[in-house]
Amino acid sequence: VTTTSTPTIDLTDVDTFAANRHHEMFDWLRANDPVHWQPPGETGGFWSLTRYDDVAAAYTDHTTFSSAGGVMLGGSFRNEVDTAANRMLVASDPPRQRMLRQVMRGVFSPANIDRVAARVEALVDRAITTALADGGCDFATAIAPELPVGALMAIIGISYEDAHELVRLTHEMVGYRDPAVAGAGGDDRLRLAGVQADIFEFFADLVRARRADPRDDLVGILLRAKLNGRPLPEEDILYNCLNVAVGGNETTGYTACSGLIALMDHPDQHERLCADPGLLDGALAEMLRMASTNAYTHRVATRDVEIGGRAITRGESVVLWNVSANRDETHFADPHRFDLARTPNRHLTFGTGIHRCVGAQLGHTELATLFRRVIAAPARFTPAGEPTRLRSNFMLGVTGLPVHLARRSS
Ligand code: HEM
Repeated sequence: VTTTSTPTIDLTDVDTFAANRHHEMFDWLRANDPVHWQPPGETGGFWSLTRYDDVAAAYTDHTTFSSAGGVMLGGSFRNEVDTAANRMLVASDPPRQRMLRQVMRGVFSPANIDRVAARVEALVDRAITTALADGGCDFATAIAPELPVGALMAIIGISYEDAHELVRLTHEMVGYRDPAVAGAGGDDRLRLAGVQADIFEFFADLVRARRADPRDDLVGILLRAKLNGRPLPEEDILYNCLNVAVGGNETTGYTACSGLIALMDHPDQHERLCADPGLLDGALAEMLRMASTNAYTHRVATRDVEIGGRAITRGESVVLWNVSANRDETHFADPHRFDLARTPNRHLTFGTGIHRCVGAQLGHTELATLFRRVIAAPARFTPAGEPTRLRSNFMLGVTGLPVHLARRSS
């Protein structure tokens, strides 16, 4: 990666991300224009924070950097006044965020995490056994989705088929600019609104079912919740179901693909991990850092503020680029190198501060369950073609990953 020539900087150009060439932009920005203003275009104008220290500082200063403008630039829930503001956990500021988070934590209890691990283990086992019999598969469609599917079955209490349908819907929502995922034709924004409406309908049906037959799952927890003595309005319940569905479905499967690519690209480290499974936690941290699946999150400045000599005005959009912070050479030596023994490894893949991913432990458990099975398999995954990447600058997804699964020679 070169930092000497100036690449064209357009952080909304999803083709640059799909071509996996975005690191060139971020390397250059960190060195030359770390607090970068992108003029209005595809979206309104926005500031980009690209250095680790600036990103971490903005995460922790939630008074200056509000979440109520939504987390996705120019996409979901991004209006003058966000429709999800202070309704959906991730698009809320304190005090509402604190109360909602308290409620949502019930979903991520140790018992639920154990349930997810058991589901994912069974599904991944079955998928790997099938792939082994077939000599390979498309890992992105045959194995990775079993992670969010297992999680949905365990914490939302839906069937395998419904869970796959929900994953398909959130993939379409987040991949609304990728014709291979969301279909071509028509207006991007209309497509996005349409699929969001479908997801709301999915959850509205579930809320009806759970009202009639109460359970101790996500919807049950939200139905029972009281904030300031009042139950949550139905719309808020739907927004938070959506938050869990997108938060869970659009991250772990894609991270699993990026993690497998890293192992296949580094057979020596792959061997080392197979020989010493004690290295798995470090390997997962490094996979999460390198993948930075949730590339950025979005905030709105609540006051005029200066960062790195640039004047940010109240009301302006500020984007916190996890993907760039995670490769900041002042925090990670040789940052583009995959090193499963890297220490320390304080990546920002789950964010930090009050919004730090409430599903981080669950996500980690899903990935650990999968990779424990991958490294214990009697066969080794090797590439069978180039990966296909999602046309998105928000989720760095892998939508196609052909692999061979061949028995180990030794
Ligand atoms: C590799 C997996 C994951 C990654 C990379 C990831 C990333 C993130 C990030 C960066 C945030 C902070 C957003 C912000 O500050 O604006 C976040 C928050 C959140 N994530 Fe995750 N996530 C993952 C897994 C999950 C899972 C498995 C779930 C649920 C099943 C989940 C649900 C949520 C929710 C509900 C929030 C909002 C928390 C709050 O605002 O207080 N995430 N996630």
